[in-house]
Amino acid sequence: MLIDGYGRTVNYLRVSVTERCNFRCQYCMPEKPFSWVPQENLLSFEELFKFIKIAIDEGVDKIRITGGEPLLRQDLDRFVGMIHDYKPEIDLALTTNGYLLPEMAQGLRDAGLRRINVSLDSLKPAVAAQIAQKNVLGKVLEGIEKSLEVGLGVKVNMVPLEGINDSEILDVLEYARQRGIKIRFIEYMENAHANEEIRGLYGKEILQRIKERYRIRRLGREGASPSYNYEIVENGYVFGLIDPHKHDFCESCNRIRLTAEGHLIPCLYFDEAQSIAQAVREGDVEEAARILGEVLREKPKENRWSETANEGSDRAFYETGG
Ligand code: GTP
Ligand code: 5AD
Ligand code: SF4
Repeated sequence: MLIDGYGRTVNYLRVSVTERCNFRCQYCMPEKPFSWVPQENLLSFEELFKFIKIAIDEGVDKIRITGGEPLLRQDLDRFVGMIHDYKPEIDLALTTNGYLLPEMAQGLRDAGLRRINVSLDSLKPAVAAQIAQKNVLGKVLEGIEKSLEVGLGVKVNMVPLEGINDSEILDVLEYARQRGIKIRFIEYMENAHANEEIRGLYGKEILQRIKERYRIRRLGREGASPSYNYEIVENGYVFGLIDPHKHDFCESCNRIRLTAEGHLIPCLYFDEAQSIAQAVREGDVEEAARILGEVLREKPKENRWSETANEGSDRAFYETGG
């Protein structure tokens, strides 16, 4: 079992397979980053898998593949298959912008992927295009339908931004409810790479918009997830709210992150990371396991978005996959 310095059990590994993306979301990477990680610095699937096996053997039972946009990494279904075949019981999921799902959902499902979380910030083509800086909505909606059709579990994530998509909170909620999909609203997390003019809605403002139509009841947290569940009293639909400005979910944080370059990151907010790249490249499994132990011991108690906004780390969300 993996236990960190504060006694928290870590059973969830998020693996970013690329920082590249085919969108330019305003809250993430509004302009092309000046330099992508050179191809030769990326760990191969085999190298990433060496670390993943250690993590699984130590008790990780939930793995989420992220990016950038993970579907841009060539042969991703092969990587999914490697993890699935090693331990089919793993809760194997992926977070995506959805654009390539129409073509890829079936192959991913066949390889053993169980679930996907898709960003859906608007149902208006022009607004979706304003946020992603590309005409994306048609493909994303098609990708969601295709994923449901092939039997993937689907959730959607929406980041409400003032004056951009905040008038659509109820519409996106209804879209999800009608399809039996769970929606999670996410507070915008300030970061140095975002468009500095945007302002996100706080959790209580998001809930206020929903209360304009419905009565809602606060349930508990969804396991060790940062998402709080709320039930709509009128129809029993359950949606989630991720509000890191409160950071009370840090108490039971169960996750670490691995980037495509092999950086092992104990907390999304802070810069601290250690590289397992050399160890896995040299096949030194013991060294990789030692670094994992050290990163766990140093995992911080909580993030500090509430106090210092974006001063914690220069690391971009497109590197860690949120
Ligand atoms: P489930 O397995 O479906 O619960 O997914 P998830 O919520 O772990 O994954 P997803 O990639 O959909 O993440 C949703 C949002 O939560 C992203 O915007 C993340 O940035 C944010 N998030 C996830 N983990 C953390 C965390 O440890 N700290 C903070 N502050 N935000 C997080
Ligand atoms: N704040 C909040 N959520 C973000 N995401 C990406 N950047 C940010 C940010 N700065 C979300 C995406 C995606 C999820 C993985 O993270 O919308 O759904
Ligand atoms: Fe790409 Fe996701 Fe960042 Fe949007 S939020 S630019 S889809 S990595």
